Amino acid sequence: MGWELERSLAPLGELIAYDYPDIDLRKPESIRGLIQKNHPEVIVNATAYTAVDRAEEEPGIAMAINGGAVATLAEEALDLGAGLVHFSTDYVFDGIKGEPYVETDLPVPLNVYGQSKLAGEEAIRNLGGAYIILRTSWVYSLRRDCFVTKVLDWARKHQTLRVVDDQVSNPTWCRMLAETTAQLLSIGSKDITAWLHEFKGLYHLAGDGETSRFEWAKAILRFDPQKEEQVTKVIHPAITSDFPTLARRPLHSALACDLFFETFGLRLPPWEQALKLAMAVE
Ligand SMILES: NC(=O)c1ccc[n+]([C@@H]2O[C@H](COP(=O)([O-])OP(=O)(O)OC[C@H]3O[C@@H](n4cnc5c(N)ncnc54)[C@H](OP(=O)(O)O)[C@@H]3O)[C@@H](O)[C@H]2O)c1
Repeated sequence: MGWELERSLAPLGELIAYDYPDIDLRKPESIRGLIQKNHPEVIVNATAYTAVDRAEEEPGIAMAINGGAVATLAEEALDLGAGLVHFSTDYVFDGIKGEPYVETDLPVPLNVYGQSKLAGEEAIRNLGGAYIILRTSWVYSLRRDCFVTKVLDWARKHQTLRVVDDQVSNPTWCRMLAETTAQLLSIGSKDITAWLHEFKGLYHLAGDGETSRFEWAKAILRFDPQKEEQVTKVIHPAITSDFPTLARRPLHSALACDLFFETFGLRLPPWEQALKLAMAVE
């Protein structure tokens, strides 16, 4: 996400991008030092501790990065009068609602990662200021390991695949999420802090429509530009409990993104359309 944002946000003005170890989110003074040195108008935070299973064994680190560091970013933004754009996750929900979650639904995270991301959201909202939190879901990019690259890899190694059919959400192409974030900021770019103040809040932004990992995997195999390399003959649906993991995951955590569309006139395209494009160009 950070890489895609660096690319998509570049036309909006001077962009200064940092990654570990230039900035270490475990060290508040590292965050404060860089922000005070650069005096940004807007801070866009794509960093996070995203190892969902490892977080169960390292709750302190997950909370420090996804909660504590986000609070520090929000404090610095507030002190400087800067805007803050931050990303959060569908994993703040428990997945039992039975239909897509809206922004006013009560978050009940099932795992440490979700708890730590919720702590980050709450830190920003409690401090106030000029912020936008974008909750997204099942983000993929062919530039790095993700569900899409895993399925492509399995399809080259195994004749039979089993993929869970009971986890449902919105696959989201990272590039479109980054480009839509840039378009969002361009709407208010004349006076970005005042604009962010006016529209501050929490919004859901993910690929349009929901699907299961099983259906997503089938679409990945269908759109694979090197289909001739696939050895997979059959793909079976499985259930989450067939593949025990350290962290519990929400089963139906799809996000409804109508508020974002009604407010800003932007939405991500249907997930299958985006996947086809991602697999054609990346
Ligand atoms: N991926 C998904 O499916 C998904 C779904 C919903 C929401 N989100 C949210 O979307 C945002 C972007 O996620 P992503 O998929 O791009 O995650 P990612 O690929 O794991 O990237 C996270 C970034 O944070 C950096 N980082 C981690 N610990 C750091 C530290 N202590 N100091 C400085 N940098 C540190 C990482 O640096 P290194 O590479 O050097 O470790 C990496 O560049 C996150 O807020 C995530 O919670 C993601």
